[in-house]
Formats: sequence, structure tokens, C-alpha cells
Amino acid sequence: MTAERIDGKAFAARLRERVGEMAGQFEQWSGRKAGLAVVLVGEDPASQVYVRSKHKATVAAGMESFEHRLPADTSEEDLLALVDQLNRDEAVDGILVQLPLPDHLDEQAVIAAISPNKDVDGFHVTNAGRLAVGQSGFVPCTPLGCMMLLADRLGDLSGLEAVVIGRSNIVGKPMAQLLLDANATVTIAHSRTKDLPAVVKRADIVVAAVGRAKMVKAEWLKDGATVIDVGINRLPPADGEEKGRLVGDVDYAGAEGVAGAITPVPGGVGPMTIAVLLRNTLVAAYRNAG
Ligand code: GUN
Repeated sequence: MTAERIDGKAFAARLRERVGEMAGQFEQWSGRKAGLAVVLVGEDPASQVYVRSKHKATVAAGMESFEHRLPADTSEEDLLALVDQLNRDEAVDGILVQLPLPDHLDEQAVIAAISPNKDVDGFHVTNAGRLAVGQSGFVPCTPLGCMMLLADRLGDLSGLEAVVIGRSNIVGKPMAQLLLDANATVTIAHSRTKDLPAVVKRADIVVAAVGRAKMVKAEWLKDGATVIDVGINRLPPADGEEKGRLVGDVDYAGAEGVAGAITPVPGGVGPMTIAVLLRNTLVAAYRNAG
């Protein structure tokens, strides 16, 4: 069997287009554009690339992008003062503080300072709590994007066996909650899981979010499983390459022969994250304006 390639890039492009249309309607209705503020502290190269992509996508969707770039030695007091100012700014519907923050800043304290109603990342404990108890709030962008791809591919997930590999607050835990809400039977596996291959073998749905290149092997997968690869890992450069290739947490070449469907890296889950961020910002705009 050759697995169907789940084209996250095309799905994300369609979602961004729909959000763009709705952003136009929001502007007509409210007399202003929906606005996303992105805060970047320091010069981490990967974060700079992400922040630039978010800015471009926000503007392309017809929304206002407010970028705040602060030096790496910014004090927590100054960062919290900026967050407070953005919380009170009526032109700002969504606030995203790019992670990771420099070591001297307390990420949890900064996230806690963001108004839960503008927390389009869904990282605030209030939104994590809402997700846990089934209330509506903001859901982290990457797992919500994964759910959209799964729903598109599989429809009803009721009763399916889902294994989430990884237990981060940003992906693993919210992913498990969303799968549970969709009535899947959910296992969260992690670095201390005994016999991970056997756990993965029973899964109709595998979500890999560990950050280890090609860790999930073809032999672990059940025939026809749907595989969502959240990992983005750069391999060391091969001969003649300037930069190493990007690969996921799943051994794609092998898994393709066993899985029913699989997301590629790049072009799978990655593009969904920004598209969902725009979607969450538009939802925030309607909620905050209404
Ligand atoms: N760093 C890597 N991914 C993310 C994300 O989704 N949100 C934020 N705020 N920082 C990130």
C-alpha cells in the first residue's frame, strides 16, 4: 500500500483564503480590521523566520499585524508592561508572544499576563482549563490544525484508537484532549512509555510530536493507520548540502508503505499552524467586538 499524502499546505491555503473572506466581512461590519500583535524578544533565527511568516500571512488575510521586536536583554517588567498595553488596546484582538523566551524571562508568568480573551495561542491556563472541561475557548493552533486534517481525512473519529507521542502543553496534551472530545480512545505516550512500538501498533491514528528525527518506524504502524507528523527536525548537512534536510518524527519513506495516509514534512502540519492562528484571531475579533 502507498499511503495517501495529506496535503496540509493546500488545506492551509484554503483555510487562509476563507479566513481572509471573513476578515473582509468583519471589517465591513465593525469598521476596523481584526488585529494580531506578535511579540518577539531577542534574535533567535528560527523565531525570526516564524514571526516574519506570521506577519506576511496576517497582512495577506486582510488583518492588521502589530509587530513588537524587543532586545534579548529586555526585563520581565518591560515585557509585562507591553503585554498589559496590548491587553488594553482595542485594535489588538489577538496577542502572541513568540516562544522560547530568553532564559531570564519566566514564560509562564508572561503567558499568564495575556488576557485569556486575546490568547490566540491558547496557552493561558484559563484556555487550557476550558479545553479540559469542554468549554469554548482558544485551542492551541498546531493541535487544532491536526484535528482539521484528521476530520477531513477520516470524518467521524468515534471509537478509533489514537496514540499521541509527546506530552507537551503546546501539542501533546491539547491534542489528546481534542481527540478525546471527538470520542477517540486516546493514549498519550512519552519518553518513559514501555514498549512504544507495541503501543503505536494498535493505533488507527498516530500523532507524533516528540522532536526526534525519524523516530517512529514503519514496522511500528498498524496497516492503514493515519499518521500526523508534527516534528520539524533538521538533519546534519549531507555532502554537497549547505543546510541539512527537514524531516519529521516519522520515517516517512518507510511509513508510506504501511500507513493509509500521512502528512509530509515539510508541507503537512507546519502550514496549518499559521492558518489556524489567523482563524483564532478572527474568532477573537468577533468575540471581543460582539
Ligand atoms: N514557538 C514555536 N511555536 C510557537 C507557537 O505556536 N506559538 C508561540 N507563541 N511560540 C511558538
